[in-house]
Amino acid sequence: MSELHEIAKALVAEGKGILAADESSGTIKKRFDSISVESTEENRRAYRDLLFTTEGAEDFISGVILYDETIRQSSADGTPFPKLLESKGIIPGIKVDMGAKPLAGSPDETVTEGLDGLRDRLEEYYGLGARFTKWRAVISIGNGRPSEYAIWTNAHALARFAALSQEAGLVPIVEPEVLMDGGHSIDESFLVTERTLRAVFTELFDQRVDREGSLLKTNMVVSGYDSSDQADVDTVADMTIRCLKNTCPAAVPGVVFLSGGMSDEDATARLNAMNQRGPHPWQLSFSYGRALQAPALKAWQGDAANAEAAQQAYYRRAKFNSAARTGAYAPEWEKEEVPA
Ligand code: 13P
Repeated sequence: MSELHEIAKALVAEGKGILAADESSGTIKKRFDSISVESTEENRRAYRDLLFTTEGAEDFISGVILYDETIRQSSADGTPFPKLLESKGIIPGIKVDMGAKPLAGSPDETVTEGLDGLRDRLEEYYGLGARFTKWRAVISIGNGRPSEYAIWTNAHALARFAALSQEAGLVPIVEPEVLMDGGHSIDESFLVTERTLRAVFTELFDQRVDREGSLLKTNMVVSGYDSSDQADVDTVADMTIRCLKNTCPAAVPGVVFLSGGMSDEDATARLNAMNQRGPHPWQLSFSYGRALQAPALKAWQGDAANAEAAQQAYYRRAKFNSAARTGAYAPEWEKEEVPA
């Protein structure tokens, strides 16, 4: 089996998922603003350091997605972050897109940039220890959106990113995110996610991307946040699985969900419900940013004295999401103070 296939499989190993710690400078500033912590390079480093040095997290975490700044930073003892992760058996990855920018001719929509010079950057990231990559495309619902133009332009860029990553020996995590913001129904979320994934897999196929050496990262099919009719956990699980069965080839080893602003508990419970309905053609796992980090960020408050409490909070969410990988999570655990 090719190395790409092995890495892709390892990222969705049983009971494990991915920590998305690849917030861009702008996004991490927003997260730090929420706890009134200044976004300095040292604060960003210290925060990522506490996450990455959490003892035992490697039992639940297969890979960590880093940001360009983070992959070049080191732990307090001087060990470069990629080396530190590797030593724990965690695979380092890297976000390589340059963000979603207004789409010419349809300025209310976005296209993700970052293809220029990507081949050289991938080579550098491989040298720095990265073994997988991520590229996020953003699709929004409402006011006639999304256009076919936005869907196909983003799908084309995702496939170009994926093909270049594989050429460089890196497993691409292909991330089309249909935003959960808006007043849309879960049926609309289903239709837009289906249209988007169909376009993405058409482009991946046309651009000769090896599906077995890639992972899909996408949204769950949910009601828009502003909708008064919120679908329950069983409906979300059933519709998300149906959407994936209609679009995502069985050759793809895993689908890793983003949390997209869902509560920590919803993100875990919904993944759990999907895995209770298994087995599925692919592993269903997580690649959460906020849903793994929110309690840790809150516990930390930018104070080194709180690092241990923050690590415990992160460990707890990682453990719960690991249980959700096999459908073994129980919502009652949320009421307990100490990890179950
Ligand atoms: P969230 O889980 O916070 O949505 O972040 C995941 C991610 O990597 C988005 O690109």
